[in-house]
Amino acid sequence: MTSPLLEVKDLTLHFRLDRHVVVEALDRVNFFINPGEILGLVGESGCGKTTAARAILGVVPSPPGELVSGQILFQGQDLVQMSPRQLNTTIRGKAITMIPQDTIASLNPLFTVGTQMLDIMRWKGTQTPTFWSRYSWKRKRQHRSQLIDMLRQVQIPTPERQLRKFPHEFSGGQRQRLLIAMALSTHPDLLIADEPTTALDVTIQAQILQLLKRLVRNRGVSVLFITHDLGVVARLCDRVTVMYAGQEMESAPTASLFSQPSHPYTQKLLESLPDPGKEEMAGIPGVVPSLINPPQGCRFHTRCEFADDTCRQERPPAVCVAPQHTVRCHLYDAQGKRRR
Ligand SMILES: Nc1ncnc2c1ncn2[C@@H]1O[C@H](COP(=O)(O)OP(=O)(O)O)[C@@H](O)[C@H]1O
Ligand SMILES: [Mg+2]
Repeated sequence: MTSPLLEVKDLTLHFRLDRHVVVEALDRVNFFINPGEILGLVGESGCGKTTAARAILGVVPSPPGELVSGQILFQGQDLVQMSPRQLNTTIRGKAITMIPQDTIASLNPLFTVGTQMLDIMRWKGTQTPTFWSRYSWKRKRQHRSQLIDMLRQVQIPTPERQLRKFPHEFSGGQRQRLLIAMALSTHPDLLIADEPTTALDVTIQAQILQLLKRLVRNRGVSVLFITHDLGVVARLCDRVTVMYAGQEMESAPTASLFSQPSHPYTQKLLESLPDPGKEEMAGIPGVVPSLINPPQGCRFHTRCEFADDTCRQERPPAVCVAPQHTVRCHLYDAQGKRRR
C-alpha cells in the first residue's frame, strides 16, 4: 500500500460570526487522496466543500474562521502546523494549486493574461518576491515559450496572440482553460478544482473535463475535484467522498459507490440524479440543516427515514462495507453488515 499524498484527519473548523453564533462548517472530516488519483468531494451547496479546500491551502479567512482541531497531512507533513512563510514558499500555489469556480474574479482585469501567467511562473522559481530582480531576459524567454506550450496543451488557439489579451476578451470556457494552464504551470503534486465547470455550458463542461483528465493523467498529478454533480464524478473521479452538512458520510472507489451506495444520503443523491426514463426527479425531502447549532449525532438524521435515538446522539464510526469502501451510518455494524 502506498501512503496517501494528502490525508485530512478529523478536521473541525468553525466560523465565529458573533460571541454566541458559530457556524460549525466542518465536523471531524476525514478524506484522503492517493498519489495520481482524482478524488471527488461531493455534496449539496453549503456542506463545506470549499471550506475544506481553503483549509488545505491555508486560506480560510480568520476571523471569522477558526481551525478547531484535526490534521492536514501532505506528503507526511501537517500543514496545520506549518508557518505561513513555509506554506507560501513551498506549498501554496506551488506543490498545491487551485482552479477556482469563478474565472473572472480570479484573473486581474487590469493586466494581460500573458503578464499574469508569467508572474506566476517567475514566482514559482523564487523563494521570496524580493529575488525578482534576478529575473533575466533569458529566463523570461524560457518561461514565455513554456507558457505558449502550456496554452497549446489546453487547446487555446494561436497562443502567442492570446497572451496580449485581457481576461474579459476570453469566453468563460477559454478562461477556465487559462486557469487550468496556470494551475498546472508550477508542476503541482496536488491540484484542487472547486466546481471548475459549474458556470459553463454542458458541452463546454464536457470538453474541459476531458482536457483536465488527460492533462492530470499525463503528469500524474493528484486532484481534489469538488462538485455537487455525481454525473461529473462518474466520468472523472477514481474515488469519491460524499459530504453532508460538514460531515463526511461515505468514501469509496467510484464504481463501488455507484453499485453499492450505502449511506441513506448517498442513496438519495443517486436517486435524485436526472434520469431520462423517469417522470420526475425524486429530490430529497427536507432541507439541509443550519450549521449554526447543527443536529447532534449524524447530521443527516433530520432527513433520514431510518434514524433512531443512536443516530440523534452519536456520530457513527466509519465502517468498511466493501474493499476501500467506508460509510458512517448506524445502520451498519462493525463488520459492515446492515443491521436492519
Ligand atoms: N467566510 C465565511 N464566513 C462565515 N461563514 C462561512 C464562510 N465561508 C463559508 N461559510 C459557511 O460555511 C458553510 C460551508 O460553506 P462552503 O464551504 O462554502 O460550502 P460548499 O462549498 O459545499 O457550498 C456554509 O454554512 C457557509 O455559510
Ligand atoms: Mg463551494
